[in-house]
This record gives sequence, C-alpha cells and structure tokens, in this order.
Amino acid sequence: MTDFSNKTVYQIYPKSFRDTNGDGFGDIPGVIEKLDYLRELGVDYLWLTPVFISPQRDNGYDVADYRKINPMFGTMEDLEELIRQSEERGMGIMLDMVFNHTSTQHEWFQRALAGEEKYQNYYIFREGDPDRAPTNWESKFGGPAWEYVPALKKWYLRLYDVTQADLNWDNPEVRGELKDILCFWKKKGVKGFRFDVINLVSKPEKMEDDYEGDGRRFYSDGPHIHEYLKELVRDAGIEEYVTVGEMSSTSLENCIRYSAPAEKELSMCFNFHHLKVDYKDGDKWGLMEADYKKLKELFVEWQEGMQRGGGWNALFWCNHDQPRIVSRLGNEGTYWKESAKMLAGMIHLMRGTPYIYQGEEIGMLNAHYPSIEQYRDVESLNYYQILLERGETEEEALATLAARSRDNSRTPMQWNSGKYGGFSETDPWLPMSAAFREEITVEAQEKDEDSVLAFYRKLIAMRKKYPVIAEGDICFPETGADMVFAYRRTLGEKEITVFCNLSGEKQAVKAAGAGRRKRILLENYEGREGSLEEEICVLLPYEFVAFGNVED
Ligand code: GLC
Ligand code: CA
Repeated sequence: MTDFSNKTVYQIYPKSFRDTNGDGFGDIPGVIEKLDYLRELGVDYLWLTPVFISPQRDNGYDVADYRKINPMFGTMEDLEELIRQSEERGMGIMLDMVFNHTSTQHEWFQRALAGEEKYQNYYIFREGDPDRAPTNWESKFGGPAWEYVPALKKWYLRLYDVTQADLNWDNPEVRGELKDILCFWKKKGVKGFRFDVINLVSKPEKMEDDYEGDGRRFYSDGPHIHEYLKELVRDAGIEEYVTVGEMSSTSLENCIRYSAPAEKELSMCFNFHHLKVDYKDGDKWGLMEADYKKLKELFVEWQEGMQRGGGWNALFWCNHDQPRIVSRLGNEGTYWKESAKMLAGMIHLMRGTPYIYQGEEIGMLNAHYPSIEQYRDVESLNYYQILLERGETEEEALATLAARSRDNSRTPMQWNSGKYGGFSETDPWLPMSAAFREEITVEAQEKDEDSVLAFYRKLIAMRKKYPVIAEGDICFPETGADMVFAYRRTLGEKEITVFCNLSGEKQAVKAAGAGRRKRILLENYEGREGSLEEEICVLLPYEFVAFGNVED
C-alpha cells in the first residue's frame, strides 16, 4: 500500500468555504477559485465533505444519490473541473463516502417503504410492537435509534437522524452497490476517500438491549467489520488510494488492524479519544476543564501503540464536527497567536498524516452565538431541547452549545475583513463567527510572515523536507512538567525534539541538555528566552519549540 507519511490533507466544508454565485451557500466553483491558495499552503489532498444530492438534514451526510452533485454546490462538470485543476496543481481530491446510512429520500429507502422486499433488505428493518422499539439503543443525535413505519408495521434502525437509515451491510447486494459507487468516482479521477463512521457498519446479528450504555458497544468495530472493509477495498481496487476511516468509539487494537498496510484495509484512521478529555463523565454535553494529563496519556498511548502495531494515525484537532481547537485548548485573547501555533506544531510533527480543517490554518475561533436562532445543526437543535428537558436554564444550555456545537466549526471561512469575510456577498446560510476580526483572515495573514498561516506553511514543508518527521520513530521524554507535552522523533542519527507548553503560565522543563549541539527548527516566539542546553529550561506561555540535528 502507498505511503502517505509526508503528505498533508486539507478538509473543505464546501458549504462554508466560498460562495461564488451569491446565494449564501459555498459551492464547488468557490473551491476552484481558492486552489492557488491551497497550493501555496502546500497540502497534497483536498477532502471535500459530501456534495451529493441530499435533503441537507445533516448537511449532506444524508445522501439521496451518491452519483449526483447537489445543484446547491454546482454541477458534475464543476466537480470534474475541480479534479482537473487540482491535479494540475499537484493536489488530489478525496470524496466523503457516507456508507453507514442513506437519506430516507434515497431511492432504495423509498422503494423499501413502497413495500419492495429487495430494498427492505438493504436496511435494518425489524418487525415489532409499535410501542416498543426492538432495542433500547439511543441515536447519536439524541432520542431512540429506531423509527416505526406504521404502513409496514416495522421499525428501522437509524443511529443518527430519523432521515438517516442504517444500511444492512450483511446483505452482499448492498456491499456490491457501495463498491460500484467507489468505482464510479474512481473513474472520475478522485484520488482518495474518507469513509464516514465506517466502524459502525457491521451490526450484530442478535440485537439486544444495552443496560450499560447507548448500544454502541454492540455495533462499534462490529463482528464483520474487518472482513467487509477488506472486501470493499479489494473489490473497488482502492488499495493504493489514500483512504481514511472515521472511527467512532473505537479501540487501539482495531485501529491497528484498520490501518496496518499488511491488512489491506485503509491507509489511516481518525479516532476521537483525545477530543473527549473535556467531556464530563464522557458526556459531550457535560462541560469540564480539559484534563491535560489524560490528553498527554492518550497521545502517548496511541502514538506508541500504532507504532508498535504498524498502524497509521490521522493527526487532527479540528473537523466539521468539532469546536475550534484554539477556543477549546488554547487562548482566544492575549495568546491567541502563540496558542494557535503551539497546537498546530504539537500534532504536525508527530507520527501520522496531519489534517487541517478549513480556517484552522488562520486560527479561527468558535462561533460565540448569543442565541439559539443562529444555530443550524440538527444535533445542536435536538440537544438544546434535551438540555432544557434535563433542567438546564436557557442560559446554561446556550453556554453548553457555545462550547460543544458542531456549528462552531461550520461558520463561513474568513478570507478578508469584508462584512461576510469574503465568503459571500449575501447573508451566509450560517452566521459569521462573532469572534471574526481582521487579524483572523487569510488576507491579513498572507501579508504577515509571522502569521499562524505562515506557521502552518512551515510545518507542512518540514514534513516534506525532513524524513525523520515523515518516517521516524517517536518516543516521549520525561519533562517533569504536567503542562508540557514533549516528544522526540528519530531516524538513524537524525532526531527532532518538540516541547509544547499547554498552559498560559511559564513552565520549567527538565531538559537534561537536550538542546546541546542542536539547532532550533521552528518556534512560536521570536528568539526564545534562555537556552535549551541547560538541565532545566523555561518555556513561555503556550511556547512551542522544535529543535534537532537535521541539516538544511
Ligand atoms: C460523521 C460525520 C458527521 C455526521 C455523522 C453521520 O460523524 O462527520 O458530520 O453527522 O457522521 O453521518
Ligand atoms: Ca453558492
């Protein structure tokens, strides 16, 4: 399988990237318009979240036709043009395959509803008492995971929205259809695929109530998952493509299997354990200060574990489902720039393939919406009601959404300081972030050599330049400082050490002369204070420094 260790992927949420026809929705021509910007950034692949026909209940993750472009985004010709123009600039397009479920508007589901047995077998229908769902599982968006269809006297499983019906992967015809969809897009020239919640597709044969949780332990990394993935990848002939699986509530052991080249499943996986360290009792809707000790432990566990098992991580902080990382683990005020750079450096030089989500490269912040009217996401709107029912006041529920809503990442891209950030000429479908300011725009940062954007460009270039970053081993030297994350990459004689101060206070690090005869490769303060050659060195608030013995 192909090695993607020196590549960087850029994630585009087209709806919020650039609107070229003034309807308030971003579109494919908008992505084409920004290709030079992306080439300058230095990224290798552009992952587009779904642009297929969809009623947009879940912003395209509810697909009604996997082979057609939603007119809101443009035409098939636009997508072909995007593929062509990206290739000219040395970048490949990755499409988002939502294969756990379809929209209930999909022809297959419509035919199932009309009584065609063939298509009922495409989904997970169960006979049963209209008052009692087949199991007590809960939907990831709140409420029960089953929906009753009176006309059929059957329930269907939907782990997400009621309009997102889970597909029956145990049916070989379904797997064949999904393979055909991949082949269709391969022919169009796409270079890779992201697979949405792919580790949830294999459901257990016997479905039982969950008295410990919401049901996920029965279907996450389910019984036939590895077998089905191997089959799909082999039959679609995408072994050499860049493929990344989104793994929900997964395990290290399974991720090694999903991504170890010998298994011929996927190139790499996303896991989310490191993005739950601020969930109170594991609940996304429970607010808590981030547990930094846990965060560090998780990185160590996954980096060392994947290395040992020969697996490969996707490295990321942000995507279209996560709040902005600077708002979450960094600092929105005095240390905005320093913390944005530190968080970037922290993941980009680790072992894996880094992902950048649009706007992250300029340090974009959360939405900070003052009222519920500004939110659009189905999950946020559902949970707002659930939080009120749980007894939270409107104010509390809004504070929870402000920290956790997926809309935090979906606000329009901030290209310039115009009214709508250069995203559109009209009111965008989702309001601009209230934290939008001139400093956090592409236009301002392109003029500034010390910008967050310039820092991202350097990180991407370093991975290409130094094999030790792409291919080296990783280990985690002891620093004696709880709020400092440190790692060392080594390849033969070459090594690079990274220190990240996760806090807004100075931190003393036991460095044991780590910096002797090393040169600083990248830092987020101009000319750091003190030396790295001492036994103890002091890091400034949110300081990031990478040093090593690699040559220019
Ligand atoms: C994934 C997507 C998310 C979507 C869900 C259901 O988690 O990233 O946006 O809502 O799957 O498709
Ligand atoms: Ca548009």
